[in-house]
Amino acid sequence: MLTTPICELLGIEAPIVQGSFGPWSTPELVAAVSEAGALGTIGTGLQSPGAVTAAIRRVRELTSRPFAVNFTARPFTEESFQATLDDSPGIVSFALGDPGDLVVRAHDVGARFVQQVHPVEQAVRAAESGADVIVAQWMEAGGFGGTVAGLALVPQVVDAVAPLPVLAAGGIADGRGVAAALVLGAAGVQLGTRFLASVEAGVDLNWKKRIVDAASEDAIRIEFAETVFPPSPPGWATAPRVLDTPFVDEWNRRRDDAPERADDLRDELMAALREERAHELVPFTGQTAGLIDEILPVAEIVRGLVTEAGAALRAASMRAG
Ligand SMILES: Cc1cc2nc3c(=O)[nH]c(=O)nc-3n(C[C@H](O)[C@H](O)[C@H](O)COP(=O)(O)O)c2cc1C
Repeated sequence: MLTTPICELLGIEAPIVQGSFGPWSTPELVAAVSEAGALGTIGTGLQSPGAVTAAIRRVRELTSRPFAVNFTARPFTEESFQATLDDSPGIVSFALGDPGDLVVRAHDVGARFVQQVHPVEQAVRAAESGADVIVAQWMEAGGFGGTVAGLALVPQVVDAVAPLPVLAAGGIADGRGVAAALVLGAAGVQLGTRFLASVEAGVDLNWKKRIVDAASEDAIRIEFAETVFPPSPPGWATAPRVLDTPFVDEWNRRRDDAPERADDLRDELMAALREERAHELVPFTGQTAGLIDEILPVAEIVRGLVTEAGAALRAASMRAG
């Protein structure tokens, strides 16, 4: 058993969170993660308010355990946020911007508020806003990462927001990574890519297979992201990390041309998303792809993370004498 104070705060058995997959989240994955004793997260990005409500209800049919509902500032849909609050969520998480009064609104309905940050300054701001948990997302992460690597970022965020609990996110796919995060002072971890390559994840099988086959170097940043995705706030630069594709390779090379083609590129991405083939253009994936060599059931992933982390912590303490 691997327990930290965040387990009691979030009502979970293991200090492990499955981060949101935005439009690629499915209730089946979220429920499987929560059933395994970790925390599943529903993504709401680019979903209609009705779809968000339906996902929350479906997860509740599948599990009575806690789960989170994630929102991002870019894009943010007020109707979906309010519909979620109306459904009395246990945990709300937020990424890619300042939460403003969303923390108070979540607290007013009795929900815990988890805020993902990239720079340390953003962590301090989130703590001042009243967030209950801070997620420090490293540059190695799948989805949007900042510019600082985990070994440097996590201890700084831990110190800056103490005594608030911090989850380390990005670059973790096995128990050694979980152990390292705890040693850095984190209260737990948030994983994305490892759970994407799970049996229960609802994404295309080819995407999962590419994760299994990929080296870490294949997970690259979209250098032209600021022209096609909603731009980062000043000083809080982020860019999505994806497995390379002809689309990303071409526009990373032609990034100076991207601004004048921004509308076309955005239309191409949205059309691909509607046709459920966005992974052919932008398969969001982190550098842990190099560590993942099997598509596994979620319960096995969670069990492995817990067992290996305990063993890694014991082995490290013996090595240090
Ligand atoms: C396909 C995909 C979609 C993501 N969408 C979101 C999102 O909508 N909101 C969010 O907060 N994080 C999002 N993330 C980040 C993950 O929740 C998680 O924090 C990150 O993947 C952790 O890094 P790792 O992939 O190295 O484990 C996404 C990640 C991936 C891989």
